[in-house]
Amino acid sequence: MQTISIAIDGPSGAGKSTLARSIAAKLGYLYVDTGAIYRTIGYYIYTKEIDPKDETAVTARLPEIHVELTYGEDGLQHMLLNGADVTKEIRLPQISMYASAVSAHPAVRAFLLEMQRQLARTNNVIMDGRDIGTVVLPDADVKIFLTASPEARAQRRMLELEQRGTPEPFEAVLKDIQERDWNDSHRAAAPLRQAEDAVLLDTTELTFAESEEALLNIMKEKTR
Ligand code: DC
Repeated sequence: MQTISIAIDGPSGAGKSTLARSIAAKLGYLYVDTGAIYRTIGYYIYTKEIDPKDETAVTARLPEIHVELTYGEDGLQHMLLNGADVTKEIRLPQISMYASAVSAHPAVRAFLLEMQRQLARTNNVIMDGRDIGTVVLPDADVKIFLTASPEARAQRRMLELEQRGTPEPFEAVLKDIQERDWNDSHRAAAPLRQAEDAVLLDTTELTFAESEEALLNIMKEKTR
């Protein structure tokens, strides 16, 4: 089966997941949030009270971890960790840093690579993450690098956290974003960077509707 793949990469809080989910629903594509997969590993390491930066300790635990991605009746992506639904738990604010730290280990990235590629082989997908256009799906039909200023991203993340019932002050959210930007783009294994053939979209000054329109236009242009 010939499938279509759309890769959306960018730093945290750029609006990737909200935009990708909305566009996937409009186009009837499967939306794959790869950050949730790394969060699931991060969550497991957190529950085992292991230092997520300890590469040897994290790598030794991988054989114990079975990660599955399913789609609930709500149409949303659910993460199963050794059979248990951890979709809510992986969104706890402290898990962001665990996900970022474990995602720097090459063994963790290798462990999750085939699962992501398999999803794209069997479905039309919009996949968002940090290395989708560069490593996971280098032959994606459309590649977009979505970004916004750290302050704009912190502002949006703050609203999202408020809506989820786990509010955090602006300064703390901004610091977390800057720290994760640094971690995600300075690691040796598959760092966050724009693929040479990706289209850059900066949403700092754009509303959600404007960003969505810009993304849809890029897709139309590229798949014509
Ligand atoms: O998109 P997110 O904030 O839920 O991702 C959590 C962490 O996972 C992020 O800090 C870096 C890592 N990640 C990654 O390394 N590669 C991906 N494709 C997606 C996420």
